[in-house]
Amino acid sequence: MNNDMNRTENIDYFPVKDRASMMLDAVDITRDAPTEEPLRQYYYMAKLRDIVSRMAEAKGRPITADVITYGCQANARDSEGYAGILRNCGFEITEDETSDLVLYNTCSVRENADQRLFGHLGQMKVKKAKNPEIIVAVCGCMMQEKSNLEKIRRSFNVVDIIFGTHNMHMLAELLYKRITTGKKVSDVRENSMTIVEDMPFERKFPFKMGVNIMYGCNNFCTYCIVPYVRGRERSRDPEEILSEIRGAVSDGVIEVMLLGQNVNSYGKNLTQQISFAQLLAKTAEIPGLKRVRFMTSHPKDMSDELIETTAKYPKVCRHVHLPLQSGSDRILKAMNRHYTKADYMLLVKKLREAMPDISLTTDIIVGFPGETKEDFLQTMEIVREVKYDSAFTFIYSKRPGTPAARIEDGTPEEVIHERFDR
Ligand code: 5AD
Ligand code: SF4
Repeated sequence: MNNDMNRTENIDYFPVKDRASMMLDAVDITRDAPTEEPLRQYYYMAKLRDIVSRMAEAKGRPITADVITYGCQANARDSEGYAGILRNCGFEITEDETSDLVLYNTCSVRENADQRLFGHLGQMKVKKAKNPEIIVAVCGCMMQEKSNLEKIRRSFNVVDIIFGTHNMHMLAELLYKRITTGKKVSDVRENSMTIVEDMPFERKFPFKMGVNIMYGCNNFCTYCIVPYVRGRERSRDPEEILSEIRGAVSDGVIEVMLLGQNVNSYGKNLTQQISFAQLLAKTAEIPGLKRVRFMTSHPKDMSDELIETTAKYPKVCRHVHLPLQSGSDRILKAMNRHYTKADYMLLVKKLREAMPDISLTTDIIVGFPGETKEDFLQTMEIVREVKYDSAFTFIYSKRPGTPAARIEDGTPEEVIHERFDR
């Protein structure tokens, strides 16, 4: 999945009319909180709606919230969920880091994303000194890393609420706790296999949206932190996915991007037999939907069935993002990628034979520990041969806790930078 390292642009969200607003209206806040989800969260949203409207009355202005997103499309989609929850709690969603509530949705795939968050939290100390009422919340992948979690708890007293990727549906409950007790709230959980459906969300664009079809990753590429911070792979029920898309189409959406760390292994943990290609076909058959995209495909799991389905349905965009990472078999093995250069090239050949006009994009890492000049030249050779439409190139970033972080590497930084520039 492409992790654009810039803060995802914040623009107005479009409220989605769906089951969520009906569920919120049905809540009885005079009773105890329900135990089952998502009803429990709707209960807290309704409670907060009351509190927030009283705050707005007292201040004579709307109570605002800013959701700041780092990282990949999965995080961007999660932020649409946070915006949906906060809007249901009565907040006005803004793009202003001096809002009454600021939520940072963090990314940990490379080190510079960590540094950016710390920079923002540093500035927040100054803002909070001026306005101590600002509520600062931090969530997302970085919170699932012990070292970062401890650093925030220790060094950033400005942070009021901390939660992770396994309880992202709990924002309203944690916020309610913070507001009603005045105490800091921190709730980060280990791996969870449950997916809470029917939570609210808001779309960033009126005509297109990302749809998570699965969460987590089981691949354990040796450089990558994602399996540790996002947990084991779990697929959403196909009917939930399709009904979400049908609802969005009736609301004006014409383009969807099916999202997952490795969409090609969709369905593996479900009891019913369904492949990603079958889900893609069912999506393409939804009337009114005009374009379907998907991301990311792991080369090791790209099936002939998926190539055929992509070719068969004109609605499916002829674009495959196929991360190469390295063109050297030795490095691919050290990365635990489970394909060779020859496997990859065969896949490219099959894709081009089935769809001569297909657009191919990729991710490449330079400077993986032990990468020699010869390894690097093999990557360059594939880049020349495939002629990608675009390539996201990353300098290897050591992620504590991953197997690659334990590999010694003496390659000078200038050499890695020179490879990156090439
Ligand atoms: N260092 C550099 N790049 C990384 N990626 C993932 N982990 C790392 C890391 N530790 C890149 C991969 C992946 C993309 C989303 O980010 O190329 O495909
Ligand atoms: Fe990371 Fe590999 Fe999973 Fe992608 S497939 S998220 S690179 S472990």
